[in-house]
Amino acid sequence: MTLKGRHIVGIGDLTREEIELIFRTADRFHDRPQSQPYPARDYQLATFFFEPSTRTRLSFESAMHRLGGSVLSVADAAHSSAAKGESLADTVRVVSAYADILVLRHPAEGAARLAADLCGIPVINAGDGAREHPTQTLCDLYTLRQEFGTIEGLTVALYGDLKYGRTVHSLARGLACFGANVVFAPVTPSLGPPPALLAHLRAEYGREPGWWDPSGGAPIPRVDALYLTRIQLERLRHGHEALDARDVPRVDRRQLRRWGVDDGTLLMHPLPRAGELAPELDADPRSAYFRQVAYAVPVRMATLALLLGVAEEEWSSGWGAPRRIQLEPSATVPTGFIGRGIPCLNPACIASREPEAVAPRFSCAGVLDGAGLVLRCHYCDEPARAVGLGDRLAGVFRAAADPAVRDLLASASPDELVLFGAGADAGREGFGVTTPAEAVAVGALDLARPG
Ligand code: NCD
Repeated sequence: MTLKGRHIVGIGDLTREEIELIFRTADRFHDRPQSQPYPARDYQLATFFFEPSTRTRLSFESAMHRLGGSVLSVADAAHSSAAKGESLADTVRVVSAYADILVLRHPAEGAARLAADLCGIPVINAGDGAREHPTQTLCDLYTLRQEFGTIEGLTVALYGDLKYGRTVHSLARGLACFGANVVFAPVTPSLGPPPALLAHLRAEYGREPGWWDPSGGAPIPRVDALYLTRIQLERLRHGHEALDARDVPRVDRRQLRRWGVDDGTLLMHPLPRAGELAPELDADPRSAYFRQVAYAVPVRMATLALLLGVAEEEWSSGWGAPRRIQLEPSATVPTGFIGRGIPCLNPACIASREPEAVAPRFSCAGVLDGAGLVLRCHYCDEPARAVGLGDRLAGVFRAAADPAVRDLLASASPDELVLFGAGADAGREGFGVTTPAEAVAVGALDLARPG
């Protein structure tokens, strides 16, 4: 098993076995944090942060220094050419010419996916808007493993802003992947988990989450850990969410007693806290959040060493020839199909925020009977619809009802097909239609919006 040259955009990019390899590697760095003989000494890490960070950026940089590598750091994108209007696509292409691995944080959903598509170097998502933060999940799962000896079978309550909190979006998936139980505890009903996450947990892992309403007066169900998060004030989009967020109770000893949280329950938090977690709990034996912070260094040393392909060298203590990581060109071709006249409807998506630089791309999630194709945005997973597709090799437009569509979707490479929101656009792009009757039908088709 090797992780050399891989991207980590979502926690789903890693299998359970691969996460366990990261943990076994982290164990060795945990025992020996000043890694000799500096296996990453010939490599450079670029950290590019378009949003504030303390823990994530510094622990990645500390990890790289401890591996003997060097670091190029943009802690504030206001001091980069992004401030002059440079697109993210151009920015990451430039960075990939200077560094061997990139850690990126950006407010747009799907930003890391775009970077992974364009960079010939491994990309680690350090947070893309409200979507995912997979390496925080590696730190969280490692903490659970250290504290309980296992993750499988544990029950973890996720509390706070489950709508915009990217840490919990990745963590819920990571827990499900390890056979742990998730209890969702949104601090207010308007900040519950996105429906797409619930659908994913069911479809991918066959797991049904539990629910607990922290403001409802009922005691907390039996859990091994209570994972607290702050309200993501910078992402609240609607007035009523902001209003609800004002009344969030402070978690302190009294509140824990009121909820019936017992002495064996671990208290976790990705930090930073913003008033929701009382400092009086810092000395409480249940509180694990500063240990969580410390585990980030060995976990991120392991992640960097494995993606750079130098972990093996560390174990054999040899001084092998340095190798620059270069992805296979095919690995950098986006896996999504181009969409014409189908904008991503998520205003926070990188494709919506930087439309000049990022063409909308989609994966096809299914074919509706004659009514269209069900799509998911390649960058942010937002649903969309197409009426049919253009087959570039045959030069023909095929409506969704055409039986050939399913085969094409299963076998064609991304750049051989173009998805269309309206049949008329296909005609304008020079795609032919198979029969005159179909030409009339295609002309009448209009952009279908997801229901
Ligand atoms: C989190 C983040 O940036 O998503 N912080 C972190 O990386 N530990 C949590 C947060 O900002 O609330």
